[in-house]
Amino acid sequence: MTENSSEAMTPEAHLAEVLAAYDNSPNPRLAEITKALIRHLHEFVVEVGLTREEWFAGIEALTRTGQMCDEQRQEFILLSDTIGVSMLVEMINHVAAEGSTEPTVFGPFHVEGAPHRAMGNSIITDSMEDDQEVTYAGRVLGLDGNPIEGATLDVWETASNGSYDVQDGGQTPMNMRGIFTTGSDGAYEIQGIRPVPYQIPGDGPAGDLLFENGRHNWRPGHMHFVVAAADHKTVITHLFDATSDYLDSDAVFGVRDSLVVDMSGDRCDYDFVLETVSEN
Ligand code: BEZ
Ligand code: FE
Repeated sequence: MTENSSEAMTPEAHLAEVLAAYDNSPNPRLAEITKALIRHLHEFVVEVGLTREEWFAGIEALTRTGQMCDEQRQEFILLSDTIGVSMLVEMINHVAAEGSTEPTVFGPFHVEGAPHRAMGNSIITDSMEDDQEVTYAGRVLGLDGNPIEGATLDVWETASNGSYDVQDGGQTPMNMRGIFTTGSDGAYEIQGIRPVPYQIPGDGPAGDLLFENGRHNWRPGHMHFVVAAADHKTVITHLFDATSDYLDSDAVFGVRDSLVVDMSGDRCDYDFVLETVSEN
């Protein structure tokens, strides 16, 4: 279809014309992504019969999403999390080998440069009245069952008020964070607290989309782990409290059965199993 054609333009012909405009891209991967995005967006507009007002409401919501982003706040990631896209990207990029620890969402509250702490030490800098202390313990193993020496566990959780240090001016920076390194037995032991369910930020467009669709913004109680070792694939994951509320309705779809563990006592046992880099 050309601009001068006398035939009536249809949505299909318009899509074909738009896609053809990207045929000569010098970047094949960018062209593939751009064209698929255009195709899906055009199909979406036709499928829902998007009105001008709805199109503009979408533009405004995305504008506000960008305006809310800064060093501390990443509203686009939150939006991606709450519509399940972050988890989908994780799923297709990290197909966990049978027996290895499943990954889940990274989330926006990891902080670079957490303190290295001696094995067995506590991540609690600021104790709170409701803290229920738990020892997280186990080993970091390869798929062959052998312990991994020198593996690092970068961990973070909210304080028992449901806030991360970076969200809460009342907490000492790096409260509830730490990096632990395994010895030759691959064992780890970390003193923390039993995690509490908490609400992800709900005061922006991601929250609006949740609440206006009748969803809530709670996550079940969890401890975050990034477990890394030389020659092994890094796993970004959580352990979830088996008795927590919201396991069936996590706002960001991060729960995996294999990551739900008993935290009801004063000890939580879990072995992390890493794939070697070549075991793709
Ligand atoms: C978190 O678990 O820290 C998190 C994950 C996704 C969105 C918001 C928070
Ligand atoms: Fe979290």
